[in-house]
Amino acid sequence: MPEITAASGGETARLEARARKLAREKSFLQLSLTLMNRLSAVPGLENTVGTMLEIVLDSIGGANVIVYYFIDDDIHCADVFGGKKQLDRIDDDLVNRALETREFVEIAHAFSDTKMLTPEFTSASSCAIPLLVGPDIIGILKLEGMFMAVSEVRAHFQPFFNYAALVLKNEISGHTKLKKAYDQLSETNAALTDEIVKHRETEARLRDYSDALAESHEKLQRAYNDLKDAQTRLLQQDKMASIGQLAAGVAHEINNPMAFIISNLSSLGKYVEKLAAYMDEAEKLLAEQTPALLETLERERKRYKIDRIRGDLPELLAESLDGAARVRRIVQDLKSFSRVDRAECSSEDMNQAMESTLSIAWNEIKYKATVIKEYGQLPPVLCNPGQINQVFLNILINAAHAIETRGEIRIRTWADGESVHVEIGDTGRGIPQESMKRIFDPFFTTKEVGKGTGLGLAIAYDIIVNKHGGRIDVKSEEGTGTTFMVTLPLVKPGCVKTNG
Ligand SMILES: Nc1ncnc2c1ncn2[C@@H]1O[C@H](COP(=O)(O)OP(=O)(O)O)[C@@H](O)[C@H]1O
Ligand SMILES: [Mg+2]
Repeated sequence: MPEITAASGGETARLEARARKLAREKSFLQLSLTLMNRLSAVPGLENTVGTMLEIVLDSIGGANVIVYYFIDDDIHCADVFGGKKQLDRIDDDLVNRALETREFVEIAHAFSDTKMLTPEFTSASSCAIPLLVGPDIIGILKLEGMFMAVSEVRAHFQPFFNYAALVLKNEISGHTKLKKAYDQLSETNAALTDEIVKHRETEARLRDYSDALAESHEKLQRAYNDLKDAQTRLLQQDKMASIGQLAAGVAHEINNPMAFIISNLSSLGKYVEKLAAYMDEAEKLLAEQTPALLETLERERKRYKIDRIRGDLPELLAESLDGAARVRRIVQDLKSFSRVDRAECSSEDMNQAMESTLSIAWNEIKYKATVIKEYGQLPPVLCNPGQINQVFLNILINAAHAIETRGEIRIRTWADGESVHVEIGDTGRGIPQESMKRIFDPFFTTKEVGKGTGLGLAIAYDIIVNKHGGRIDVKSEEGTGTTFMVTLPLVKPGCVKTNG
């Protein structure tokens, strides 16, 4: 226990005053600590600034509290009523002075002559307080219309102001870092957005470009196909026209003489019969009246081989008539063939059509193949006969070409309710697998130059599938043979019958 010595009355009063002062300082220190705690408790620059202003107003009092602080080169300013601004420069003298001197700066307002205020409020003042961290100035607090003496404010709140400056500095640097990061992010984001937009644009342009390309490619393809078709048609027309003309011309030339040859031959037959009867009669009469003359006649008859002649004559005549009839048939076939380029429809028997085509192609076929016919009962088909003949001809000629030395061409026809079927099979070399899907292409040929045009099957396909609504199928085995199957509907689509 310390010793307590007696003290004089003056001493006691001095000690009492000192104790009071210490107690006051202690309570201010405690207040400062509380305030610092309050300030530490809030996160973020804006909250820190707001709380700082509230604390100052609460604990020091006054008409307004404003804080100026600096972020990079920008000046920010906030007041206790929630007002916030960014400034180009500070117009407040008091604040500027505090900035320059880094000291508390004060101006006193004398309200005594206004008589508006109660006497204790006549000595209000404003002050600007620099918020410092070491040599750095973080901001300025301005207290307006306060009634506490500046010296007291400084004495009691300096630790709080120091602490507030430190907290503000931290918050500002955190804020700048955050802002920088945020700005960088926004920048990156903007760049990315830009890039995405550009990407999309490029993509769209590319798509447009590729669409345009595809379109022009398609157009080209179409144009090419049209051209190919046109060429095929032209060549077909050409070929058909010349064959048709030739056939028509020859048929016309031969037809008339054949008509009178046939008619004369049958007259000749009748005349020969009559002449023979007359000779028989004459011989009989001579034998009765002058037998000697008969002997001479007998000799002459032998010399001229009259008996053989008479025996041969009917056969000769029959053969000639048969030949003439055959010629007439060929002429008729030629005539029917020459109708190729006429787009007319008629009811045709496919067996007859095949026959007339076979006789046209006979020269090509006869040395190569035996033709086996298995004709079925067929209803007439309403079709363009010239075109159908052309199809059969093309297939038959191909068959003959496919047979190297000698083989068979088998022709089968049959009908079902809706269609007529014509099958032409050969025992030729067959079609290799890789050629199969190309044989109907115009100009596809495996034949030597001059022999094949590659058009036969293309034309056949066009006629059967496009012009008659039918189908044409093919089966083939290399080394064994090939069979083409033509299926024709009984009525060609769009066909208007123009003759029987
Ligand atoms: N019966 C067949 N046997 C073997 N190959 C055939 C037969 N028919 C057609 N081909 C093949 O199909 C090709 C195309 O035939 P085609 O269009 O008639 O043209 P081209 O006879 O002028 O060559 C022929 O070159 C041939 O290779
Ligand atoms: Mg051919």
